Amino acid sequence: MIDQEPQGTSAVEAQGHVTDSPTFPPDDLSDTALVHAPTAVADIPSRLFGSFIEHMGRGVYGGIYEKDHPTADTWGFRHDVIDMVKELGVTCIRYPGGNFVSTYDWKDGIGPRDQRPVRRDLAWHSTESNEVGIDDFHRWSRMTGTEIMLATNLGTKGIQECLDELEYVNGAPGTAWADLRVRNGIPESMDISMWCLGNEMDGPWQVGHMDAQEYAATVAKVSHAMKLAESGLQLVACGSSSAHMPSFGHWERTVLEKAYEHLDFISCHAYYYDRGAASFQDFLLSSADMTHFITTVAEISSSVKARRHTNHEVALSFDEWGIWYSDEWNRQEKRWIEEAAAGLHHDPWPQAPHLLEDRYTAADAVVEGSLMITLLKHCKQVRSASRAQLVNVIAPIMAETKGPAWRQSVFYPFAAAANFARGVAYAPIIEGPRLHTQHFGEVQAIDSVITWDEKRKQGLVLIVNRDEQRPHTVTVDCSSMPSMAGSRMIIDSAQMLHEDDPMKCNSPEEPNAVVPRHVTPWSNTDGSITLDMPEISWAAIRFHGSQA
Ligand code: AHR
Repeated sequence: MIDQEPQGTSAVEAQGHVTDSPTFPPDDLSDTALVHAPTAVADIPSRLFGSFIEHMGRGVYGGIYEKDHPTADTWGFRHDVIDMVKELGVTCIRYPGGNFVSTYDWKDGIGPRDQRPVRRDLAWHSTESNEVGIDDFHRWSRMTGTEIMLATNLGTKGIQECLDELEYVNGAPGTAWADLRVRNGIPESMDISMWCLGNEMDGPWQVGHMDAQEYAATVAKVSHAMKLAESGLQLVACGSSSAHMPSFGHWERTVLEKAYEHLDFISCHAYYYDRGAASFQDFLLSSADMTHFITTVAEISSSVKARRHTNHEVALSFDEWGIWYSDEWNRQEKRWIEEAAAGLHHDPWPQAPHLLEDRYTAADAVVEGSLMITLLKHCKQVRSASRAQLVNVIAPIMAETKGPAWRQSVFYPFAAAANFARGVAYAPIIEGPRLHTQHFGEVQAIDSVITWDEKRKQGLVLIVNRDEQRPHTVTVDCSSMPSMAGSRMIIDSAQMLHEDDPMKCNSPEEPNAVVPRHVTPWSNTDGSITLDMPEISWAAIRFHGSQA
């Protein structure tokens, strides 16, 4: 039933067949799940399919930029990578960090490249050449058709630098900073509306980290000033660096109480990996942690809103999410700290070292598919999200130096949602087998979301089986989608990601070892779809309504 899928999502076209005698319900109901009664959540914001590029490792240098690469243009940008970024369907990209931003001077990255200063980057113990800066990234974003979400330095800088940068990137010619941009070759305003006010300022690892009161006071002043300059900006305050920070909750409340009216988003960051979870089964259910994170922060934001008697909404920006094998990074950081403790250091730091180049498994792809389902199911609260990161560094796209780019397993669930989840997200009721976990109690094995573009009568069903052990047969009822009455449901394509060895990865040698494959679900006469989901699997089914 499963055929090999070559690569990319464009090739995913499988005709479903219609039957009057569906296999559902089978005799053994313990292995079946019913996904039904979908309730509208909200319109799907395009920024939900954002990503993140930080100046670290080979994300920028050796990632999007490699001036000697055969596909590089005159700016030094790799076009094989650009093509893959477009294929992924990324909409909005957070830049330039991350921890990097907390010592970054954006002025180092403008003007003639050969006159830009080389600096030390304290966050990643690297040497920053500044060959790429905001002007260059603006050009790259135009080529990829993506929006920039610009992060400012509130670690070593403050209000004035934010205002200067705002004037430089967005200002109309006629003031000093805007004129400098024009002289640097960018006559048009960059029209950057999303701004992150610092990065993870609650984290002791962050240069210039603050306590909640200090950050709240800083953000209140910076956001007030930036909105005086441009009232239409959308400002993102740092939330907790994870839901496991000791100040989680208190931090969000303190920041929102102080600066609510000037803010538009509060950020959430969460990374998962199997060795960081209580068990492999718990890892597969990482979305339970993400759900708890979202609902807690959303409740805090609503309660602050209610207390202030305002109509203004502060939404969530889940602007770092994904899988990161952070134990490897922690070991490396520990070595640096030990070396630094041994005396003075004058050795040069490496340029664009291999950092966080995690190789993702099939199981990782299923977990990321499940996290995307969670984001869609909560898109009323989460109006922006950035999968971290995009190229080479904990990334769906890998770029070999002087060689080809290739897709990691996690590329595919993101691409399916980013390219085809349109219209409104619908959260269904799920009745089926439950799993016992150490951290999250009892959780459904199956999770799913339905998206529906009423105007085009086109839908997408995303399903994940998070059960480590058992396959389940899943029936999804899509018949109640608006304007579906009197229509026949036609399956346009169906793809599944599952490997018998869940630890299988793609690599430069085998770039298509883990890819989605065509599957053939049952399209039942009652407007539902039935699909067998193996253990640890993810599926995407595209359908449309046709006049009966
Ligand atoms: O994405 C890698 C790092 O993770 C980012 O620099 C930081 O914000 C987070 O801790």
